[in-house]
Amino acid sequence: MNNAPIGVYDSGFGGLSVWRELRRLLPHESLLYLGDGKNCPYGGRSRTEIEGFAIEAVERLVEEGVKMVVVGCNTATTAAVETLRKRWPDMPIVGLEPAVKPACLTTASRKIAVLATAHSLSSDMFLDTAARYAEDVEVVKVVGEGFVELVEGDMECTAEAERLVRKAVGPLVSMGVDKLVLGCTHYPFLRPTIERVVAGSGIEVIDSGAAVARRVEWLLERYDIAAECDSQPVMRFITFADEGYRHRLEAKAERIMNIDR
Ligand code: DGL
Repeated sequence: MNNAPIGVYDSGFGGLSVWRELRRLLPHESLLYLGDGKNCPYGGRSRTEIEGFAIEAVERLVEEGVKMVVVGCNTATTAAVETLRKRWPDMPIVGLEPAVKPACLTTASRKIAVLATAHSLSSDMFLDTAARYAEDVEVVKVVGEGFVELVEGDMECTAEAERLVRKAVGPLVSMGVDKLVLGCTHYPFLRPTIERVVAGSGIEVIDSGAAVARRVEWLLERYDIAAECDSQPVMRFITFADEGYRHRLEAKAERIMNIDR
């Protein structure tokens, strides 16, 4: 038993979509959320840069006494998860990958789409996963241009969000795709708009949040570090940006708890 918090890290607000699934599945666990904010977005940056940000973030979480780290960011996972695991061999570190495997196992049309950042879609990790599970499945790669900025700017419900989502996702409707994988943790914030755009096309939208929460639950048991079931969970939010950003993180966390998947 261990009542220390689980650290969840992202470039900004996106990892809150993973944080929400952890809250739902593991209500006794304390969570310490680190939203970088200062260096966001990561999606167009080099691997070396992102790796540096991820090391700084995990250093901070370790200093704060977390018992496990969830890299709630596909981009940072593809760039840095191996390095992080080497640097902190005793710390369980969970990474996030686009749900390509479940999409490939369930597609009837043998054609799926993955919506992610430019960095994630060109990473070795993504290409390896696609080669492993999507051998006989066509994978359409789509960058969510401007999506992260929309979410960081609290602009999910604007006409601009509708326009950018239609531009990126609209063409998939007539392409014979039947699964759309959200491969960036910011994108579930735009899920209502994405689902509206693909409505009636038979495309199922999939993200990795709930699967990652189940993986965390499994690891807590395996290492015997779950919180006691009568412990009072503490939710904390920290950032490398300013206090205003930290307040916005808290407000966004509260809001996303009320949005259905
Ligand atoms: N939320 C991040 C992801 O899952 C990245 C967003 C960004 O900073 O570009 O990929």
